[in-house]
Amino acid sequence: MTVEVEQVRTEVIEFGSLSVQFDSRVLRPRRWTTAQSAWASAQLRTAPDGPVLELCAGVGHIGLLAMAGHTRPLVLVDLSETACRHAAANVEQANVSCPVEIRCGRMDEEIADDERFALIIADPPWVRSDRTGDHQDDPLHAIDGGDDGLDLARTCVQLIGRHLMDRGSAVLQVGDLEQVAAVSDHLADHPDLRLRIAEHRTFGDRGVLVLLVR
Ligand SMILES: C[S@@+](CC[C@H](N)C(=O)[O-])C[C@H]1O[C@@H](n2cnc3c(N)ncnc32)[C@H](O)[C@@H]1O
Repeated sequence: MTVEVEQVRTEVIEFGSLSVQFDSRVLRPRRWTTAQSAWASAQLRTAPDGPVLELCAGVGHIGLLAMAGHTRPLVLVDLSETACRHAAANVEQANVSCPVEIRCGRMDEEIADDERFALIIADPPWVRSDRTGDHQDDPLHAIDGGDDGLDLARTCVQLIGRHLMDRGSAVLQVGDLEQVAAVSDHLADHPDLRLRIAEHRTFGDRGVLVLLVR
């Protein structure tokens, strides 16, 4: 009998100033998302004192790059154990000057009620379920956002509303302008979240970044 054992090869990619490791079981880091790191990093200049949270952090590169030159604590959250293992290695490799904590689990179960963050970065799966076939190389858990692509983004927005400090901000990634409009409608329907969209930036057909403020 022949047993085929799938070989999983760890790859390393340059992401801004970082060398980031990952493998085929997680999303391949996308270079355009250095823009999310840069925008988040810029927000820290005027943010209140306090730690930084990254939701759906994957192997951690967006948050780690954002923290270059900053000393605030960083918390990375992701559901995938494989992503969290790579994130731990990437933290070591990045040699950042901030303390980093990795929490492996569902984002809605990993943050204590009383935790507050000055900045929240969020990169949820945002591909509509009926379009995931367009992304054959990407693992489903990393891209499938449900019928309208926003199932996990809505969870992120709920968590941002609950855990963002006053005068804090969040940089959320979604897929397109239709989804930005849907997030805007969601915020209008949930004034208790006390969030508004201050700005959005589009990156062709690669994605859209949304700045949420309180
Ligand atoms: C679009 S990927 C982003 C990963 C990384 N930021 C990147 O750019 O490669 C979405 C990530 O969300 C994670 N994820 C999906 N559902 C989650 C949940 N309920 N709680 C925490 N993480 C989740 C997946 O494991 C995946 O790593």
